[in-house]
Amino acid sequence: MYRILEKKELAPKHIMYRIEAPHVARKVQPGQFVIVRAFPNGERIPLTPVMWDREEGWIVLITFVRGKTTMRMANELKPGDSILNVAGPLGNPAPIEKFGRVLAVGLSAGIVEVFPIAKALQEAGNDVTTLHVAPAPMAILKDEFTESVSRHIFEGFEIQEGWGTKEIVAEIARRGAEKVKELLSEENFDFVLTVGPAGAQKAVFNVVKEFGIPMHADLHPIMVDGTGMCGSCRVTVGGEVKFACIDGPGFDAYKVDWDELIHRVGFYTDLEKRALEEYLKSLRGE
Ligand SMILES: Cc1cc2nc3c(=O)[nH]c(=O)nc-3n(C[C@H](O)[C@H](O)[C@H](O)COP(=O)(O)OP(=O)(O)OC[C@H]3O[C@@H](n4cnc5c(N)ncnc54)[C@H](O)[C@@H]3O)c2cc1C
Ligand code: FES
Repeated sequence: MYRILEKKELAPKHIMYRIEAPHVARKVQPGQFVIVRAFPNGERIPLTPVMWDREEGWIVLITFVRGKTTMRMANELKPGDSILNVAGPLGNPAPIEKFGRVLAVGLSAGIVEVFPIAKALQEAGNDVTTLHVAPAPMAILKDEFTESVSRHIFEGFEIQEGWGTKEIVAEIARRGAEKVKELLSEENFDFVLTVGPAGAQKAVFNVVKEFGIPMHADLHPIMVDGTGMCGSCRVTVGGEVKFACIDGPGFDAYKVDWDELIHRVGFYTDLEKRALEEYLKSLRGE
């Protein structure tokens, strides 16, 4: 059991949990993740340790409230409660090398996963600029980034009336691509890194490709076990089938089959919508 030491709403839909998990805190490296099961009848979801203290034995997870599981966690978990399972660290660490000038892009909630990687890259002697593209009220970790990297840019926008998730993700993709183009046109960068919705990462990749700069993308296919046993997280990279939970989650963006990934992450959309609707109904006592 993994005790919740602290829980805080950082911004609308962004919840921070500081959790006692000494075995993860001791070993985790930037780019790795954990699989969390919060409730006895709940599903397993992949989340990323954003910060940790190896000696005190805690990790910080930040969830973006997307569907049923992240919403149940936000509604039902309190400080002092325990999480049933936190398995990890899982996956490969991100490449922490001396690249030179790095642009690390967090699209929407992807920024939380950028944090440990960008901080480690800066500590390794790189000159890191981080870019967060998200709806304006969702600016999170601004102070933490400002303290940890050379420059942090927040590219916020207002949500228009009638916009749903699809429109918001399209706007993140459009603005992300536009801002990255502006930065790459004005300055020299040696390496780009992205985390976020697959469609938005693809839009940024299309820009980076024009400049021929190496790019690392952290992918979010659907995961179940997170240990390489089911293949639900498979992605095609360089024409080969890879499992994101063991071969990734980060890959060379030039080798990723983006269209296949975008298609696969939408597989369970109807079931996810139904699970959320049923949970909301149960909250209303229907
Ligand atoms: C390696 C990795 C690290 C991640 N780190 C974080 C993190 O630090 N913070 C965070 O908020 N989210 C993170 N995610 C995404 C997180 O796992 C999903 O937000 C979560 O599974 C959604 O569950 P839900 O029931 O609330 O929403 P659902 O209703 O299940 O899903 C809503 C949408 O979220 C995506 N999604 C759903 N299930 C998964 C899954 N099992 N794996 C990946 N994507 C999924 C899909 O695009 C789906 O359309 C990470 C994903 C991966 C693969
Ligand atoms: S999540 Fe099952 S193999 Fe990766």
